[in-house]
Amino acid sequence: MRTPMIAGNWKMNKTPAETKALIEDLKKIENRSGAEVVVCPMTVCLSTAAEALKGSEIHLGAQNVHFADKGAYTGECNAASLKELGVEYVIIGHSERRQYFAETDVTVNQRTLKALEAGLKPIVCVGESLEQKQQGITNEVVCLQTKVALLNVGEKIDDVVIAYEPVWAIGTGLTATPEDANATIGAIRGAIREVFGEAADRVRILYGGSMNDKNAHDLMAQPEIDGGLIGGASLAAEKFSGVINFN
Ligand code: 13P
Repeated sequence: MRTPMIAGNWKMNKTPAETKALIEDLKKIENRSGAEVVVCPMTVCLSTAAEALKGSEIHLGAQNVHFADKGAYTGECNAASLKELGVEYVIIGHSERRQYFAETDVTVNQRTLKALEAGLKPIVCVGESLEQKQQGITNEVVCLQTKVALLNVGEKIDDVVIAYEPVWAIGTGLTATPEDANATIGAIRGAIREVFGEAADRVRILYGGSMNDKNAHDLMAQPEIDGGLIGGASLAAEKFSGVINFN
């Protein structure tokens, strides 16, 4: 009942010209899995990407959005501008934002609420650090992150996507085992169910962290895993194609 989603987080890679070239390559890929495909380029590349994606079935996402409508927030980007460019999804609370840019569960919630108010669909990232994993508190950490991120979301829960990205698995080549990722995502769904009831069964929860064309099949075979948020393996069309066609 949940449409799988394969989303590429291009992080701080690809210039506008490279963005256009990669999108042109991605448009040639046959999508045999039926997954909803999303690409999330750098903010400065979004308008090039929107133009290149015209007439294609690939969806456009941003990597961040500010929680104010507008104002004195040098370097930030507001939801209205993303909307105007034709952006549909926005990644919020990526662990790199939490680690390097002082993002907290509270600001993740603020950004999520603003995105939803503007008609953007947030892809909210949660995940435990290596230390938290070793202490055996993964479920507590990710469930709390999820619940705080979704405070006051209300009926808009149906527009939310969650991405479970264990911090120790990002860009390291280490992946959670499919079984572990499935169990943690099941716990996240349980936390959503506590607050939002049966809507939890409609919320897509992605896995992210060194997911690639080799391991996507086994991860996607798990019942709780509804898709992937892909970093490195989304930067070249051939590899990303292998993830999109995970089946
Ligand atoms: P990698 O796929 O490069 O590990 O990155 C995952 C990620 O952070 C996606 O948001």
